[in-house]
Amino acid sequence: NNLSSDSRGALIVLEGLDRCGKTTQSSRLLSYLEELGHTVESWRFPDRTTNVGQMISSYLANKSHLDDHTIHLLFSANRWEKRSLMESKLKSGTTLIIDRYSYSGVAFSSAKGLNMEWCKAPEIGLLAPDLVLYLDISPENAAERGGYGEERYEKLEFQKKVAQSYKTLRDASWKIIDATLPIEDVEKQVRETVLNCVEACVKGKPLSELWL
Ligand code: TMP
Repeated sequence: NNLSSDSRGALIVLEGLDRCGKTTQSSRLLSYLEELGHTVESWRFPDRTTNVGQMISSYLANKSHLDDHTIHLLFSANRWEKRSLMESKLKSGTTLIIDRYSYSGVAFSSAKGLNMEWCKAPEIGLLAPDLVLYLDISPENAAERGGYGEERYEKLEFQKKVAQSYKTLRDASWKIIDATLPIEDVEKQVRETVLNCVEACVKGKPLSELWL
């Protein structure tokens, strides 16, 4: 086909504990890139609009019970059902800002005690992010922010384990940002890092697959 691989969009992922400020930063980043004239979309996982996503949503709301392995594979399936759309968007020049991705999948499931390599396996072959912005906040600090809601994982002890799991997943695509700084300061760092990344993708950085 005639999709030009030398000016693709960037795959940018935001990760972090619940309440770290990802959602705020992704919507600010979306507006910023739009103002600069980029074609950009904001996505999130789990994508609760699909059938699989509805099963996940009911599980998170404690309305259904699923075995730990089963819910893990559903989260992964929820990314797989978006993979081809993701690839075509990127290749046609759209930058994607994604709130949570495979790192959440592995960090949350392995925090329950599942084997980390087992958790990573179903993610193999998904598109690798060009940049992972990790909004770093301590579990205690996150818990103080407006309080957790009713969802299954929003508990301090569990978030501490998730934070540990995230640490072992860091790789070269990660940029760790201190999420306890004022919103504008976090935003400034996000912008700088993202602009470099978008530029590299425009210049022909190839798309790759997990895990790097
Ligand atoms: P959300 O609050 O960002 O919509 O995410 C819902 C919860 O699901 C959040 O606590 C993180 C968790 N999660 C997983 O356990 N595995 C995954 O693969 C993803 C994307 C999220």
